[in-house]
Amino acid sequence: MEIDIFTLFPEWFEWFAEQRHVHNALAAGSRIECLNFREHTPLGAGQVDDTPFGGGAGMVLRVDVLDGALRARYGVDPVRLRENRRVIALTPGGRLLDDKLVCELARESALTLLCGRYEGFDERILEHFATEQVSIGRYVLAGGELAAMVVCDAVLRKLPGALGHEESAIEESFSPALDGHPEYPHYTRPAEYRGWRVPEVLLSGHHERIAQWRRERSRERDDLTAGQGPEGSPGG
Ligand code: 6GU
Repeated sequence: MEIDIFTLFPEWFEWFAEQRHVHNALAAGSRIECLNFREHTPLGAGQVDDTPFGGGAGMVLRVDVLDGALRARYGVDPVRLRENRRVIALTPGGRLLDDKLVCELARESALTLLCGRYEGFDERILEHFATEQVSIGRYVLAGGELAAMVVCDAVLRKLPGALGHEESAIEESFSPALDGHPEYPHYTRPAEYRGWRVPEVLLSGHHERIAQWRRERSRERDDLTAGQGPEGSPGG
């Protein structure tokens, strides 16, 4: 997997790349490269944004700046780029990231992530250069960088070799192996602490009963997230 991240803050990702599962994925052949679109601005003084037409607060990333940065990287018109590569703009209003989308992205051989700042992207960037918009939740972050890290974290840990135990990513929360339910509860030693006992079944060594218990607990936990509609409204 090759991931290109266009950002004004490439140095933020240095810490991220050191995290163990990310480091493992990179050691196993994946690659994350950060590109600063400020280095490709055709404007003076490193300018990348401008005031919005029609007025209003904040600044908007310019379409010519993104055009220049993408063209410099890929050597083609960015309008063509998206014919054979997913170009994802991180926006608060985009498609919500979930396990299904993460698995979908993990099957790609290459991804491009565009991180906005300020009030966001000139709409023509989204319309003509991006294949899609992705959001990590219905709230607004100051920029797309943290969201890009969330996407990379979730995608890279799906790749072979990223985790210590290969099974860890298979039977985990929201995976098809758990029918999309949250994960069952885990316990470790001590078996009793301050009078709080680990469920007996887990100490029984009875694999069939343990599996059955875990399926039931996983299904029960859905109740914790049930009713969280798009607006977090009950039953929404
Ligand atoms: Cl992808 N970007 C920004 N700026 N805010 C967000 C987001 C993305 N997802 C949730 N909030």
